[in-house]
Amino acid sequence: MAKDAKQYFLMHKDIRVCLMEITDEGGIGSVRLNEAAAPHFPLGGQMNNMKFHEWWRDRAIPKTRHGAKTALQRLGYASTNSALVNNLALSLSDCYWILPRGEELTWKDTNLFTNDFVDMFGEITINQDHEIDLRKETKFNCATSQGELQKKWCIDEKGRRYMVKGNYGESYQQSLNELFASELHWRQGFERYTKYSPAKLQVDGNMEGFGCLCYDFCSEEIESISAWELLQTVKFRQNESLYYPLKIVCLELGMKEQDFTDFMDYQIMTDYLITNTDRHMNNIAVMRNPDTLELMGFAPIFDSGNSMYYNVPYENLSKIKFDEIKTHSFIEKENRLLQYVRNRSLTDIDKAEMDFSIYEKDILERQIRIPKLYELYQRKRESLRAFQKGKDIWKSRIR
Ligand SMILES: Nc1ncnc2c1ncn2[C@@H]1O[C@H](COP(=O)(O)OP(=O)(O)OP(=O)(O)O)[C@@H](O)[C@H]1O
Ligand SMILES: [Mg+2]
Repeated sequence: MAKDAKQYFLMHKDIRVCLMEITDEGGIGSVRLNEAAAPHFPLGGQMNNMKFHEWWRDRAIPKTRHGAKTALQRLGYASTNSALVNNLALSLSDCYWILPRGEELTWKDTNLFTNDFVDMFGEITINQDHEIDLRKETKFNCATSQGELQKKWCIDEKGRRYMVKGNYGESYQQSLNELFASELHWRQGFERYTKYSPAKLQVDGNMEGFGCLCYDFCSEEIESISAWELLQTVKFRQNESLYYPLKIVCLELGMKEQDFTDFMDYQIMTDYLITNTDRHMNNIAVMRNPDTLELMGFAPIFDSGNSMYYNVPYENLSKIKFDEIKTHSFIEKENRLLQYVRNRSLTDIDKAEMDFSIYEKDILERQIRIPKLYELYQRKRESLRAFQKGKDIWKSRIR
């Protein structure tokens, strides 16, 4: 065993799925599987050892997360990996954690769904000047999660867990976009979406800012697995569209084909309407029962904030050409994503009339964008209407 390594069991609730060495920096050394618990081994790490190392690495908060560097410094962690180990790799999105060998802890003692915690790490990513109040100290000061935006997990007065998200830079548009997307799904009468609500934030300099919050869609009975993790169980070519490999995995796990296509059809079309350019494979997830391992369908649509031209400067909003929009999704060209849609009627354009006054909550300088955003959105609606009438819009030049 490496000098600075310690042994831990990787746990799925109270099931020991493997024994592994973890160094002080949080890297894994040797791994010994518990064959009897093989089905509980993380799907993303099942193919081989390298995949398992990647699964573990991806579990830490990305070091590129906004504010992570300050949070590490202020809490005295050498890296996001050591923060992960120190917090027993606990998350509010699944039921995996690590148990130091020789300790008596159980899932009941540790899990963040029922035990108290203060996500100090998350708090500092949002507000670098946040005071660390030692009286509020709990056993864990960080719940691990993916994503680049500052975020923290909190507990409301009824004990429900919710996540607060911030924004890049000065504007509040990403948070406002989450509210906008929630409103769209509500108007559509679609149920499988994560509802975002407004949240007041204390941001750097102890100033008041605007963010959004959503309740945890996971619990002790429901865990989520990202599409990216699912894709680690199959081989696919680089540059290949990830749509079909993902479909194969989902169907193999027991999802009905129509459940897959209906969800994707709806998500692709609504993402098109709001120009969500970030439906990457960590922004799609499935849910499963952590005890029976039964698949429970897709996680409710989440993370739609990188949409509505949030990163396009005002001067360029008039120059946007729809057939040139690029996304980080199954394929690069946004309008070509529509090729995957089987049932074009699964969104209702008439019910997609939206109220843009929500964007008045942005900082004053950004409010001049509202008429442009409105115009672009209406053009998207018309374009989607043409698509629904049978036009393969990626074949023509719709500008
Ligand atoms: N309501 C929720 N319940 C449970 N898990 C969630 C919830 N919202 C987000 N997550 C988990 O947290 C991760 C990060 O959240 P989210 O995608 O909203 O953050 P982000 O920083 O905007 O991400 P990105 O880097 O993709 O922009 C998600 O990939 C998902 O695994
Ligand atoms: Mg995300």
